[in-house]
Amino acid sequence: MFAETDWQNWCKAVESCADCPLKETRTQVVHGVLTKTVKIFLLGEAPGGQEDQSGIPFSGQAGAILNDFLRILKLDREQLYIGNTVKCRPVKVSAKGRYGNFANRAPKQSEIKACARWLPQELQLSGAKVVVTLGNVPLRAMLGKPAKVGDYHGRSFVSEKYGFPVFPLYHPAALIYDRAKEKEYLQDLETLKEWLKEESSCE
Ligand code: URA
Repeated sequence: MFAETDWQNWCKAVESCADCPLKETRTQVVHGVLTKTVKIFLLGEAPGGQEDQSGIPFSGQAGAILNDFLRILKLDREQLYIGNTVKCRPVKVSAKGRYGNFANRAPKQSEIKACARWLPQELQLSGAKVVVTLGNVPLRAMLGKPAKVGDYHGRSFVSEKYGFPVFPLYHPAALIYDRAKEKEYLQDLETLKEWLKEESSCE
């Protein structure tokens, strides 16, 4: 059952996190939206500039691609919990940055490590039965070891570290840089659709 008070306490705690230097540059901590227990936890890498502004994961360019995929899967955002492995936007100084003088960058190992303490409770509070990872960072988090999404996408495994069935996908932003991945991605979505049907009627 959805434990609203526990969820609110978790949100308050994560929103005041000061465990890594990303606290200096963030507009806000970006965690998922949870209004009821869900079965599917979609785990991304880290918020970008748009997410840092809105406070909502995948609300920017990668989010628009993700929405297309969810349409293919016939899933609404309310049926999922969408969160990130790292909950604050990693930035680098850049004159070309769209928000202030900052551009996005990949999270550092130290930031991933510092943020890892939030995930177990987030997984538990969501009520999810399965995790779908988007990209390298969440895949490595669920595996608990270095890995490349190119070697794992489209095939489920059980995370020994967290005890969850996991289905790895490429990060949606991968398609912004490489349209050639589209066919592969669509195949993975078809496999995921079948997998979700098998795994505790997640549809
Ligand atoms: N990419 C991610 O991994 N997460 C977001 O929230 C946005 C873009």
